[in-house]
Amino acid sequence: LVITVLSLGLGLGLRREKHQIKPVFLSRCEKFSGNNCQKIWDAFQQAYVNQDPCKVPVEAYDPLIAAAPFKSECNRMLFWSKTKDVVHDFTEKKDCFITLEDTLLGSVLDGLTWCGKEGSSDTFTTGCPGWTDCENNPVRSFWNRASAAFAEAACGAVTVMLNGSIATPFHPASIFASVEVKRFKAPIVTNLTVVLVTEKHNVARCTDPSLKDLRKELDKGIQYNCKEVPRSEIEACSSNPNITCGTCW
Ligand code: APR
Repeated sequence: LVITVLSLGLGLGLRREKHQIKPVFLSRCEKFSGNNCQKIWDAFQQAYVNQDPCKVPVEAYDPLIAAAPFKSECNRMLFWSKTKDVVHDFTEKKDCFITLEDTLLGSVLDGLTWCGKEGSSDTFTTGCPGWTDCENNPVRSFWNRASAAFAEAACGAVTVMLNGSIATPFHPASIFASVEVKRFKAPIVTNLTVVLVTEKHNVARCTDPSLKDLRKELDKGIQYNCKEVPRSEIEACSSNPNITCGTCW
């Protein structure tokens, strides 16, 4: 009985541990040297703790962004919309581009869910509102705020991978369209290259009407170009050590 109780307790404890966000946050953060991760955690928490989880505005994360600002990496910043897997497979294998999820804040919070509760100083990882349950939820507000700051740091030639297999590769409701594109400013940003990732049964091409909207939204002075690249070519390129940055498309 003692053993059963002990192992049950241990099991529950471990399971509870698994759902805790702080150890995950800190261990992911420590992989980036030269940061005060406890300070960054405190700035993160203050955004949503003790708040109604549907009333966390985007600005609540201003102190977090200030505590871990994005570096401007000219000519290396890669944006994406509905191409998460292919993009991160690429950036993992080749050290050419930086996405939001390769930065400290982006990598620390990628894939996590969190929220607070009024009258509590805890962080919860279950029972939190989903992305579309209410607009001002802690997770969605964070990604909107981080995406805005990441796009504001954009400089030089910027690349975006869009999905050529969906009806609207540049969708107005996406973070890329609604938050990021608006923040690219000439002459700091000089070029935008759309890499339109195509599959065998691709529906969209560089002539897609939504891409005309993208051109229209771009700050004047930013050069635009678009290239259709099969997904298989991107995958082959990321796995080929003999191909250097910039020659994949
Ligand atoms: N439900 C849950 N998560 C969502 C939803 C949703 N309805 N919509 C977006 N997300 C989250 C998911 O984490 C998803 O992987 O946003 C991510 C990106 O969504 P996409 O629609 O694929 O693309 P987009 O909205 O354009 O955001 C990607 O924003 O994160 C930044 O710099 C990054 O350029 C990139 C862009």
